[in-house]
Amino acid sequence: MTGGVAAGTTGPTSTPGAIDWGLGEYEWSASALVPAAKALVESAHLVPGEHVLDLGCGTGTVALLAARAGAVTLAVDPAARLLEVARIQAEHERLDIEFLPGDAASLPLPDGAVDAVLSNFGVIFCPDPVVAAKEMVRVLAPEGRIVITAWLPGGAIGQMNHAAGEMVRAALGAPAPPPPFAWHDTKALATLFATHDLTVTAEPHELAFTAPSPEAYLEGASTHPMAVMGIGVLERFGQGEQARARMLAILKDGNESPDAFLNTGRFVVVTAVRS
Ligand SMILES: C[S@@+](CC[C@H](N)C(=O)[O-])C[C@H]1O[C@@H](n2cnc3c(N)ncnc32)[C@H](O)[C@@H]1O
Repeated sequence: MTGGVAAGTTGPTSTPGAIDWGLGEYEWSASALVPAAKALVESAHLVPGEHVLDLGCGTGTVALLAARAGAVTLAVDPAARLLEVARIQAEHERLDIEFLPGDAASLPLPDGAVDAVLSNFGVIFCPDPVVAAKEMVRVLAPEGRIVITAWLPGGAIGQMNHAAGEMVRAALGAPAPPPPFAWHDTKALATLFATHDLTVTAEPHELAFTAPSPEAYLEGASTHPMAVMGIGVLERFGQGEQARARMLAILKDGNESPDAFLNTGRFVVVTAVRS
């Protein structure tokens, strides 16, 4: 309903209320984000033995990549169920990763603990970007770097997420939220990190969302935690079917494949280093 990976949304404001990321089956969406996680880790140029934090680790994709590359890896997420999924995979691969429950607004780490803070579409969900930036910088070693991904606006999936959020808000009679922080925008990020003497660069990337059909994509995307929440609300208001039809129409309209489903998601890999 709100899309498999919340592509095109820059934060949690497309659905009112806090998101329980343990709902549904985030695993389906996580697999679609693996290419972005790989691009992020590549941009981080990790050196074996470096201390790395995966912030908003979800099912641990970035943490696992970092640990496989020889980094001493910590991973933080507020969703206990997702941390457990990540922990089981790390155990399965015999990777020594420390998983901690926590929030970007108050990281459970001492000052200067890591050489790199990595976040694949994770920190962008922290409602307070100023506090999140301050925390990321606090836990960073003096020569460290922050590398994060954020969606660029646009695309069918972003459009679908936006429409779903609007429908949920309308059903609840909730006011429009303030625009989310533009985590994809170099100017906004430069201002955010300038107070910490960090310089920001951003590299555009693309990611292909695929499925056998638009219907199959919508079915998979409906397991996303935000979708599960949104569907629950809309069904309570008797609008579930109407919403599904609208989502499907948006996906069909933006479909780039003649015989399956393909949509190109656009995102940036943002790097912040000391000036
Ligand atoms: C789109 S998922 C990305 C998960 C993972 N990084 C990946 O690549 O699949 C967003 C993640 O951010 C986490 N998250 C949401 N709000 C957060 C916050 N305030 N602080 C830290 N993580 C948060 C969620 O629990 C979820 O695991």
